[in-house]
Amino acid sequence: MEAPVSKRSHWGSRIGFILAAAGSAVGLGNIWKFPYVTGENGGGIFVLIYLACVLLVGLPVMIAEILIGRSTQNSPVGAFKSLAGPRSPWVGMGWLSVLSSFVLLSFYSVVAGWSLHYAWLSISGQLAGLGPDNVAPLFGSLHASAGANLFWHLVFMGLTIAVIYGGVSKGVERWSRILMPALLIMMLVLLINSLTLDGFGKAFQFLFGFHQDKFTAGGALEALGQAFFSLSLGMGAMLTYGSYLRRRDDVVGASVTISALDTCIALVASLMLFPIIFSYGMEPAAGPGLVFISVPIALSQMPGTTFLATLFFGLLVFAALTSAISMLEVATSYFIDQRGWKRHRAAVAAGLAIAVLGLPAALSGGTGLFGSGMEGLVGKNWFDSLDYLVTNWMLPLGGLGIALFTAWRMDRRLRQEEFLSGSRLRLFYQGWVFLLKFPVPVAILLVFLHAVGLL
Ligand code: PHE
Repeated sequence: MEAPVSKRSHWGSRIGFILAAAGSAVGLGNIWKFPYVTGENGGGIFVLIYLACVLLVGLPVMIAEILIGRSTQNSPVGAFKSLAGPRSPWVGMGWLSVLSSFVLLSFYSVVAGWSLHYAWLSISGQLAGLGPDNVAPLFGSLHASAGANLFWHLVFMGLTIAVIYGGVSKGVERWSRILMPALLIMMLVLLINSLTLDGFGKAFQFLFGFHQDKFTAGGALEALGQAFFSLSLGMGAMLTYGSYLRRRDDVVGASVTISALDTCIALVASLMLFPIIFSYGMEPAAGPGLVFISVPIALSQMPGTTFLATLFFGLLVFAALTSAISMLEVATSYFIDQRGWKRHRAAVAAGLAIAVLGLPAALSGGTGLFGSGMEGLVGKNWFDSLDYLVTNWMLPLGGLGIALFTAWRMDRRLRQEEFLSGSRLRLFYQGWVFLLKFPVPVAILLVFLHAVGLL
């Protein structure tokens, strides 16, 4: 049943919601993942397809997700129960969200752990004076170390649980308000440094030049998955955050702001990283280590290495944290809304379960069963398998469900009222419904069909 509106906690302010939702969107997806996936897919046309995915698929789905949350004032499972009926198969979409939040956070936390490790290396002065040749191999040894991975993964999960334990407005909102703007400033400092490097021209050409030959249809699947990942869509995070909104809040305007901010930060991150990569003769397709190798290289050349590196990796940890809390909030709110648990108990139980689920992901860089053992058997280690499964399949599938539900199943009057309530962008209603009805589902389905080799 729908939770009574008066009892539900709400955001303290309009900007509080935007910052928290942007905090969810902006994370490792922008700074760690977008540059390396772009690198692996040859830049140029991949960036273009990514932008199209954000605008034509991501934005309409984000509006739909936040709107369903605000309308039902409930987390994913409860939201679908109240809109479609408790026994409807649509409730399965809610379950998919909860499952995705568990799986996604279990490996996301490992990468966040790498950020913590680098924050520690920075603050303890270990990066200063090393020089590029000695900084680069640090990532390889971290990646292979079981102890370091396990330790930092657990520390990060502890931090995430602590914030969610504090609750929506006191925990999530307070942190996002301070740390998001700080992150932006730090990235601009690094961007200015990159502008002065020789490799900037080459980087710009790589990112925005048109290299048609580099395009593969598999790249389109990656671009779509990356758009869902980066905008926090398809797993009920935006839906859950939307459920703490009041009816008069502007969902459409907020979605536009969040998507634009998220996309700008991914592009700024790339413009900051690729000049370093080209200037120091690294490979753009170097994979998940890209940010952890290139940024320390650049920083080790600058005055004040210890200070700047601490700031950068500290903020990367916070960006990861504001995203991770939105994932844990999905799992936690399920136990609160559906099982009637108290927040403290729900946060700790869900968080611990995810921490345990993340153990194999933390061991994926080594030579054991979950690392090269599994790689030998199925071609991907545990970490990469989960990443592939969630990013390329579960999130787009969740997005497909949201689009189909909103376009074809949701009550039309309710949908229109909800869209118009609080919105200044009323003119877009028809266009939004149209996108959700045909282009969005068709695009997702085409990409799926291609991925399974049917197209
Ligand atoms: N958008 C986050 C990032 O870019 C990841 C995320 C995905 C968060 C899905 C919540 C839900 O890092």
